[in-house]
Amino acid sequence: MERTYVMIKPDGVQRGLIGEIIGRIERRGLKISAMRMNVIDENDAKEHYSEHCEKPFFGSLISYVTSAPSVSMIVEGKDAIKSMRTINGATNPSEAMPGTIRGDFALETGRNVVHASDSVESAEREINIHFKDDETNEYTRIDEEWLY
Ligand code: PPS
Repeated sequence: MERTYVMIKPDGVQRGLIGEIIGRIERRGLKISAMRMNVIDENDAKEHYSEHCEKPFFGSLISYVTSAPSVSMIVEGKDAIKSMRTINGATNPSEAMPGTIRGDFALETGRNVVHASDSVESAEREINIHFKDDETNEYTRIDEEWLY
């Protein structure tokens, strides 16, 4: 099983989309093993997006994700990284397919509602920025034998 880091960004929280987004993740069969709502610390946000620190949008991206509470999750399952990126849709919502979160709820990259890690390395790095080891939970989904 793979795990990934998922963030419902401040626009998703303030637009009342938490339940909608979590519902899509759970209905797909992915398991949420950690979850927290908080205002992300500026240093954590800068570390999270450090590969983009030279980009012109870096300042506005950091302001946006630290402006208000967001929801952080660890999501587990078969091919969780790829599956979550598919559920989210293209980074630029104007290119995101209907049926994806961004394709259904967003119009521009600067307010694209959700984030999910793009590789195994990014997932482990981002999980370690946002969660401590003792914040993850183990449980069995009763539908696991049908999912796999
Ligand atoms: S790049 O330049 O192709 O590497 O960037 P990209 O992969 O498209 O985006 C990297 C993350 O930066 C976010 N982003 C922005 N945020 C705010 N404003 C603007 N203009 C902007 N452009 C890109 C983008 O949503 C990616 O963040 P996540 O959280 O992964 O979606």
